Amino acid sequence: MGLPRAGCRRLRRLRRMPTENPALAAAGPNPLARLREEVAVRRAAGADLIDLSIGDPDEPTPDAVRAALRDAVGPVSSYPTARGGDAVRAAIAGFMARRHGVAVDPATQVLPTSGSKEAIFHLPLAFVDPAGSRRAVVFGTPGYPTYARGTRLAGGEPVAVRLREEDGWRLDLGALDPDLLARTCVAWINHPHNPTGATVDVGYLRDQLAVARAHDVILCSDECYQELWAGAPAPSLLEATDGDTTGALAFLSLSKRSGMTGYRSGAIVGDPALVAVLRRLREDTGTASPDFVQAAAVAAWSDDTHVADRRAAFDVKRTAVLEGLGAAGWSWSGSAAGLYVWVRIPDGDDLALARRLLDAGVVVTPGRAFGPGGEGWVRLALVPDVAGCREAVRRWVAATG
Ligand SMILES: Cc1ncc(COP(=O)(O)O)c(C=O)c1O
Repeated sequence: MGLPRAGCRRLRRLRRMPTENPALAAAGPNPLARLREEVAVRRAAGADLIDLSIGDPDEPTPDAVRAALRDAVGPVSSYPTARGGDAVRAAIAGFMARRHGVAVDPATQVLPTSGSKEAIFHLPLAFVDPAGSRRAVVFGTPGYPTYARGTRLAGGEPVAVRLREEDGWRLDLGALDPDLLARTCVAWINHPHNPTGATVDVGYLRDQLAVARAHDVILCSDECYQELWAGAPAPSLLEATDGDTTGALAFLSLSKRSGMTGYRSGAIVGDPALVAVLRRLREDTGTASPDFVQAAAVAAWSDDTHVADRRAAFDVKRTAVLEGLGAAGWSWSGSAAGLYVWVRIPDGDDLALARRLLDAGVVVTPGRAFGPGGEGWVRLALVPDVAGCREAVRRWVAATG
């Protein structure tokens, strides 16, 4: 029995309805999400996998942070504000002063976020005019995919600039075509870098800020891995501003430094004029940090001891992985700080190696998942404990020897 005639007409009309924003379709599936699904399927089938693919470390969240969250869950739940409470903004400003020697006004220069990913994703909505002449958002490739995805969906033009090993995987704004800079609205830098673990010094940040300012480009620094430095403390972009934050924004995150990936807590800090625009945008995005998460964030931003402990733990894991792979003849680039080790694949086939390792019980991310320039490398996230990292290296070496 067929549908009544009116039903058929309605169905035909529905089929003509737009089904997907073309910008979303153009972005394609998130490569890391696909890998995650594959790992879940294998795990469900009983596979014994050591997962070094997703940057979600196993170390527990500090007790004081968990207690702060629990204590802040009250009997009545209210909407949080985009602006965030005084306490969390003061705690973030306190961290910037202690760690980076930078004075920021918690009232006008600090905005809590629900992790840094959503803040990065939403940023182009605040500054890109899809009908204007400055739609370009520049970032390095290989790199974190969210810079491109957020730009595309905001009607901007994502411009991926190839990063090279010989340049230390650094984006050099000064080397870009002036015509590109003239149509660029925002540029992203990220150090310690995902996926390479490359680092920079404050001189580099000063140079980039000078170029950005000369071309009226907003310079955004993704500082998600900032606290997992090794050797010298990683500088914030705001250290390069010498007190004048015009055109500069730093994106902070509690995810890795405090073991809070599931809490979704971060911050935007910098130029008060830009922060004011972001605050207005974020009154509509529904991504205000919940009050109880803010309470946990106050505990996390106010304590440096647990961060030093975590930093030391990642250092031990990084050293164990590099020593193990090095002894077996593998080489790497970057891998100096942050959460990742970036290993060179001699025959250049990162996909084939990642598959081979998956069969051997080790999950790594093929470099090409981070965009052009990532082919020929694989990324290892220092996620398991040091014994797990050593076992992963043992399996790697056994599978490839
Ligand atoms: C470079 C980079 N930036 C930002 C993020 C987002 O982190 P979160 O949203 O947990 O703060 C990640 C997550 O892995 C990342 O790798």
